[in-house]
Parts: sequence; structure tokens; C-alpha cells
Amino acid sequence: MERKWWHEKVAYQIYPKSFYDSNGDGIGDIPGIISKLDYLKDLGVDIIWLSPCFCSPLADQGYDISDYYNIDPRFGAIEDIDRLLEEAKKRDMYILMDLVVNHCSDEHEWFVKACEDPQGEYGKFFYFEKGKEDGSAPNNWRSYFGGSVWDKIPGHEDENMYYLHMFHKKQPDLNWENPKLREEVYKMINWWLDKGLAGFRIDAIINIKKALPFEKYSYPADRPDGMVMPQRMLQDAEGIGEFLGEMHRRTFKLHDAFSVGEVFNVEDEDLPEFIGEDGYFSSMFDFNETIFGGSINGWYDAKMITPDDYKRCCFESQKQMGDFGYFSNIIENHDEPRGVSRYIPEGECTIRSKKLLGAMNFMLKGLPFIYQGQEIGMENVVLTSIDQVDDISTLDEYQVARNAGLSDEEALKAVNRFSRDNARTPMQWSAEDNAGFTEGTPWLYVNPNYTKINVEAQQSDRDSVLNWYRAMISLRKNPQYKETVVYGDTVPVLENVHNIMAYYRKSEDQTLLVIGNYQTGAQTVELPCTITKVLLDNTKADQSGEMELPAVKNGKLTLEGYQAIVAVVE
Ligand code: GLC
Ligand code: CA
Repeated sequence: MERKWWHEKVAYQIYPKSFYDSNGDGIGDIPGIISKLDYLKDLGVDIIWLSPCFCSPLADQGYDISDYYNIDPRFGAIEDIDRLLEEAKKRDMYILMDLVVNHCSDEHEWFVKACEDPQGEYGKFFYFEKGKEDGSAPNNWRSYFGGSVWDKIPGHEDENMYYLHMFHKKQPDLNWENPKLREEVYKMINWWLDKGLAGFRIDAIINIKKALPFEKYSYPADRPDGMVMPQRMLQDAEGIGEFLGEMHRRTFKLHDAFSVGEVFNVEDEDLPEFIGEDGYFSSMFDFNETIFGGSINGWYDAKMITPDDYKRCCFESQKQMGDFGYFSNIIENHDEPRGVSRYIPEGECTIRSKKLLGAMNFMLKGLPFIYQGQEIGMENVVLTSIDQVDDISTLDEYQVARNAGLSDEEALKAVNRFSRDNARTPMQWSAEDNAGFTEGTPWLYVNPNYTKINVEAQQSDRDSVLNWYRAMISLRKNPQYKETVVYGDTVPVLENVHNIMAYYRKSEDQTLLVIGNYQTGAQTVELPCTITKVLLDNTKADQSGEMELPAVKNGKLTLEGYQAIVAVVE
């Protein structure tokens, strides 16, 4: 694998609306982000990915863009982005933005013009399609947020003409089959890269290729609504590589830009094309843990993941990656519940177990992306009513659960586990009002646990989750271990021992052991190696300085409940 500038970095995702509000309107903004750059720098972050802050009606919180060349006034102005780029550069930091080009907003000029004249040039920027003879939609695909992917073209409701939206009806899909549309997209990407962006995170990109013609691809229904999940058609949509390859050559490659794809379900044999040498993207997120247990019926039917499952998922991906490419690893993002609430069994979420989870994921091979608040161990919220929910996906899943016969209370509990709002509550900066996020009224409620879980309290506490993350990041950057942490192979150890997650990271002349006892009770394991130096140990308050070697008797090591150790071994 060819080495790249970004391999050894640490990345951090910001969800601008909930990060920091600088002007008291309750909405996080770009000046707010600028004012927290030093915090991020001090933590050890190099690359920052901003979720969308372009002009948007915010039907899907910015993933519905109405002007790709401008910043929504609620988040600031384009000059603020220029300033952010400058300030980041001063600190040797890199900014990524979110590339949302499977769809735009129905309020984008293109769509407005397309509806005015469906036969005209802009009509071809979208998928406008005749309904069936009986007037029903062209096929039975269900959108990701529920309901049909087809709606009548606004202004033409009495005609038998539909537009396609794989996501919300305010997110019409762009027609990538049209070369003119593709040119517009490339022009826009290059405009941003010329401005000084280091690259993009690429949203929902696997959806840009559709199985055509539409009417040929109705499928047997997978739910009582008569429709079929959108992922089904992706299996029959062939030829996405042509679009992705072209985009890569015409944009990212010219700038040596970094790109990370939001891609689900790529077949093993196709992976090298995606992120191998000269692949479509620099990297791709590993979602193996996040999709575990998912059910075709909806969130209410999903299986919870156990520590053994978690370990298996991580190892599967590490193996899948081999040595031709580099995954981007996450514990959570703005679409997922908080990792500590999901991957740590109920009732066992403590500072120590949060640190264990952090280490198990962070020490894997790949580029770590930390999601805002993860570094202080932010947790899921507890919903008491569906009226508290903002996220369109959660609202849909709640309805799905109710339709399946769950009571209000059961449905609420079921969606609470997976709601995207869990990750979108305001960042908890301090114990002051509204967690120090805003001086106004926050757009989404603050998790009441902010008085205990917040940045300020953790800064000065050596034993905090925040300082644990800081220590892990320092280890990744330490010249003595960097080669192994960044590039070393991952080799599972004690793979079949229940609730032990352990692996080596091996480079030519160094082996590190990462081992965690993923349960509350102590556990003794047979060590297949000798520990010569402990680098991190979450049972110790302080991670700096020389650390005591754990007691190993006859090759046996006893780990306390949720103890995690990173060590040099022979
Ligand atoms: C991606 C985004 C998600 C959004 C969807 C549609 O999955 O991460 O937040 O709702 O795409 O753009
Ligand atoms: Ca604001």
C-alpha cells in the first residue's frame, strides 16, 4: 500500500448545528467552530469533517442542499469558511466538507426550474418518470425514510408524472446518467478544493446508480406496505464504477485530495476498486458494527450487539481490508446512537468501560474518526415522548413500530435505542446552562447528564474519558510506536475467549498487544506473549510516565472488569 499524508492523522467529525453556538440563536455555527479549534488541536485532532452547512431548508438537517456554493446564514457566511480554512491551516489542520450529490433539495434552483419545465434542460437533471397506466407510481421501491420513493412533480399533480427521491421527498435524486449534471457536480467539487479544502466525506454515494429502467425493477414486497427496501435495487444497479472513477479522475485526483465514502455493502472483490491503489476514494467508513443486527422489518426488530459480536465485526473488517487499503474507523456518527450506549451492555456504562470501548476501536488499523462528544463519553438521551424527536428517520421508524403492533411505550423504547437524535443533542462543554453550548435556547434539547459529562470537568481530571482519548492520540503520534499503530497488521489473539477482545498490532520489529476484558467481572487469561512495557492501562488514573507491569503468573494474566491494556510485547 502506498503511504499517504493522511494515514497517520486523527480525524474528528463536527455536526455544526450542535457543536457550538457563537451568537445565542440556539444553533451551532462556523464562528463557533473556529473558536473551538484550539480545543481540537490540543486533543490531537488533525482532520475535521464538517457535516453539511450549505444553504438548506434543513428538512434532513442540511443533507438537503439548496445552494452548493453558499453557507446557510444560520451557520454563518462563506467568509466564515474562508476564515476557518485559514485558522485551520495556521494550526496544521485540514478541513473536509460533506459532499451530498446523490440528491439536492427540492428548493435548489435546478429542481425549481425542472418543475417549471419538466421537458426542459433541468428536467433531465432529475429522474422524472411516467407513472403506470393506472396512475400508480413507476415501481414499488420504499425510500430510506419510509413511504414510496416516488412523488408527483410539484405543480403537475394532475399529470401522471413522478420524480424519484431515495430519501425524503424534499431530497430529489440527481440524474447521474446525464453528463451535464455530472459536469456541474465536478465543477462544484473543484471550486471547493481550489478554495483550500483538504477533501470531502461523500454522502450516500452508492445510490447514484439506479437499476434501470425503473418499471422493470419492482420486487416482491418485504413489508405489509407492499414496498421493498431501497437497498434491494442497488444489487441490480450495475456500472457505478464508471461514475465514481470519472469523479475521482476529474476532481480529487487532480488535487491529491482526501475522500472518504459513506458506502455500505461493497462486495469483498470490489473493495480494491473502491479504496485500493488509484481507487475511487482514499478511504471508506467501516460500518460492519453499526449494521450488525439490523432487521428488514425496522429498528424495532433489530438485535442488540454483544461484546463478542462487536469483536467479531471489527476483526472481520480488519481481515477484509488486508493490506491494500485503509478503512476509516468509527464508533458513532450523526446517524447512529452514541457508541457507549450501544456497544456497552445495558447498565455497565462507566468511565472505565467507555475507555475500553474507545481503545478497542481506536487501536485498530485505520484512520480513526472521533465524533463530537465521543471523546467525553456522551451517552444516548432518554426519550419520554415521541414529540421530543426531531429526526425524520426516527419518526418514520416509530410509525413502523406502531404499525407492527407495538404500544406507544414499546415503540418509543425501540426507536430510542437507534435514534439519530442521540448523537445530535448539543455538545456538552460545561456544567453551565445548556451545557455551555448556547446562551439562547438550543434547537434540540440538551442531554440532562451534562452536569456530570462535559468537557470542562474532564479537562482537569486526569482520569477522564477525555484524557484517555488524548493519551490514545499521543500514542498514535509517538515516533516510537507510530509505525506499528498506523501501519502494523492486526492479528486477533484469544479470539474465542468469551468477552475478551484482544489483538496484536505487528510491524517488522515491534508488536503491540491491545487487550480488553469486555465485562464487569474479572477474568484470567493465558497470555501467549510476554509484556515488556505497558503503554496504556485504563485502571490507572494517569497515562503518562512509566507504568507498572501487570502481574503475570505462569503465563496467566488477570484482568479486572473492563480493564483495557495496550502494551509492548515479545
Ligand atoms: C447519509 C447521511 C444522513 C442523511 C442521508 C441522506 O446517510 O449521513 O444523515 O440523512 O445520507 O443524505
Ligand atoms: Ca448560532
